[in-house]
Formats: sequence, C-alpha cells, structure tokens
Amino acid sequence: MRLLFCSDPLDVRRTDSAYEVEAAAARELGIDISLINFEALVYDEDAGKAIQRVAPPDHPCMGVFRGWMLTPHRYRHLYEALAERGIELINSPDAYQHCHYLPESYAVIEQHTPRSVWLSASGDVSTDSLMELLRPFGSQPVIVKDFVKSRKHEWNEACFIPSASNREAVERVVGRFMELQGDDLNGGLVFREFIEFEQLTAHSRSGIPLAKEYRLFILDGEPISTTAYWEEGSYDDAAPSNDDFRTVMKSVRSRFFTMDVAQRRSGEWIIVELGDGQVAGLPERADPTAFYQALKEHVMGREAA
Ligand SMILES: Nc1ncnc2c1ncn2[C@@H]1O[C@H](COP(=O)(O)OP(=O)(O)O)[C@@H](O)[C@H]1O
Ligand SMILES: [Mg+2]
Repeated sequence: MRLLFCSDPLDVRRTDSAYEVEAAAARELGIDISLINFEALVYDEDAGKAIQRVAPPDHPCMGVFRGWMLTPHRYRHLYEALAERGIELINSPDAYQHCHYLPESYAVIEQHTPRSVWLSASGDVSTDSLMELLRPFGSQPVIVKDFVKSRKHEWNEACFIPSASNREAVERVVGRFMELQGDDLNGGLVFREFIEFEQLTAHSRSGIPLAKEYRLFILDGEPISTTAYWEEGSYDDAAPSNDDFRTVMKSVRSRFFTMDVAQRRSGEWIIVELGDGQVAGLPERADPTAFYQALKEHVMGREAA
C-alpha cells in the first residue's frame, strides 16, 4: 500500500504542514509514503509533474491519497498518472465522483438524509427557475449548498433560507452564496429541507450553531473510524449506532468514503453528507494512529488476499 500526501507548496520534499501529523502517524506505522505536487496537478494541470517524486513500487500496489479536495476531472488525471506508475488508487474516478457530488449518491441515501433538490449551474440562475425548483418545500426553511460544499460559516448570509417560498430571501441568500463561491462553484445548486438538529454550542469564531454530528470513515462497507465532527462542544452521550446505516454503507458505490451523521432533536440519526475518504478531513478529535492502523490492516489484508 502506498499513501500519498500533498507536498508543501513551497518545498516539494516536505509534507504539507496541514497533513504533517497524519503523515508522522502513518510513517511510524511503517506505511510507505509518497508526496504529490498538488499545485502542479491543479494549477499547471500537469499530472506527470505532480507525481514526479512518486517512486514506482516493486509490484503494482494499492494507493490511498490523503489531501485536498479535487474536482472529479483532476482526480481522474491523478488516478491515471498513478495507474501508469503501478499504483491504483483505492477509488476509481467514478467512485470518487459518486461520493463527492451529492446528486450522484442521493438515490442511495435518500431514506436517511434531508429531502433535497438540485440544478446544474455554472453562472447566473433565474429566480423563476429557483422558485419552481423550491415549490415542493412550500414555506419550509431550507439550506443551500453546491454539489460539494456549503458556506456554513456564513450561515445567515449564504446558507440558511428561512422560507422556501420567500422570493426575496431566496434571491438574497442564493445570490450571496454564488458570489462567495465565485469560480469555485461545484456543479450547481442543491437545496435541502432544514432539519432541527441536537445542538452542542455555537462555533467560537463564526457563531453558527453546531449540530451533534459525527464523521464515519467507511472502508469496503465497514466503519473504521467514528469521531465527533466538531472540535468544540460536549458530545456527552453515545455516538450513533452503526446498525442504523449498515445497509446504506454497503450500497454506496465507493470503497473508501465518509458519512457524516447528525442527530435530530427527535433523537433519530440521519446522514448529513457523504464524501470521498481520501479528501475528507480527519476530525481533530480523531486519533491518527488508530485511523492509519485500521487503514493499513484492512488494505494490506486485501492486497495479500
Ligand atoms: N438540511 C440541514 N438542516 C439543518 N442543518 C444542516 C442541514 N444540512 C447541513 N446542515 C448543517 O450545516 C453544516 C454544513 O452542511 P454540509 O452539508 O455538511 O456542508 P459542508 O460540505 O460545507 O460541510 C452541517 O455540518 C450541519 O451542521
Ligand atoms: Mg459537512
């Protein structure tokens, strides 16, 4: 197994400082590590240059990337360049897109996640088409995000819409969301029924209410790590039972992904979002050694089989 981290933008021989702790834990466990040049991949669109420092393995092996989010297009470039070098990333480009874009996996998680609608968009969207799309929500509150990310820290300004039938509010919040996302808008707009979650506290910097949320990493259908999502707030009682999501975990078309789950005021746990396991942050409260130990045992077990 080969683990691939991003190099420091200023020094291709060093690990990006944001992943230093994870890389140290993995190294300590004896996992082979290589660095990829993220800037070359994303800004120069040069996958060959990006993997210049990745030594070919003695035998073809499985690769796991741990780094910043990539568009599906760039992920494909990375995947193909590494495959030519004998390293097969754990998720195919299709599997990556399946968990990266909410509309792609919505049908799989639909019974366990807030009702959602979406439209593809890259630039301006007419308010008429938004109001039409939002009609099923009546006057319920909704949240807006793109196919990948929200502007949760600008909650009132660019995320939360108090009433889906309030044209002025829809125009204002979506307009601000689009403005803040700019060229980074992923895929289009998603609107989701607003859910009253159990709350921990307010975020110390942005002031947003923090929902009682956990991040699960799933590998080949099994959870290998379950950690409180937020670094602040007290998660006093038990984490979600994995039994609630066993069937869904096995239906998601990806070998390695995250499932963020939060608890409704009514007590029920539901899925907030999925993500590719390679580009999802390890929560601050997670133990990197336990995480990489689980990853190593599982992937190497598969390689040996
Ligand atoms: N449907 C919803 N109802 C209420 N709160 C939500 C809903 N969806 C997301 N949130 C809150 O907003 C936060 C960000 O939403 P999320 O979909 O996880 O976007 P991001 O990709 O930016 O993390 C979540 O952590 C949760 O606290
Ligand atoms: Mg999230």
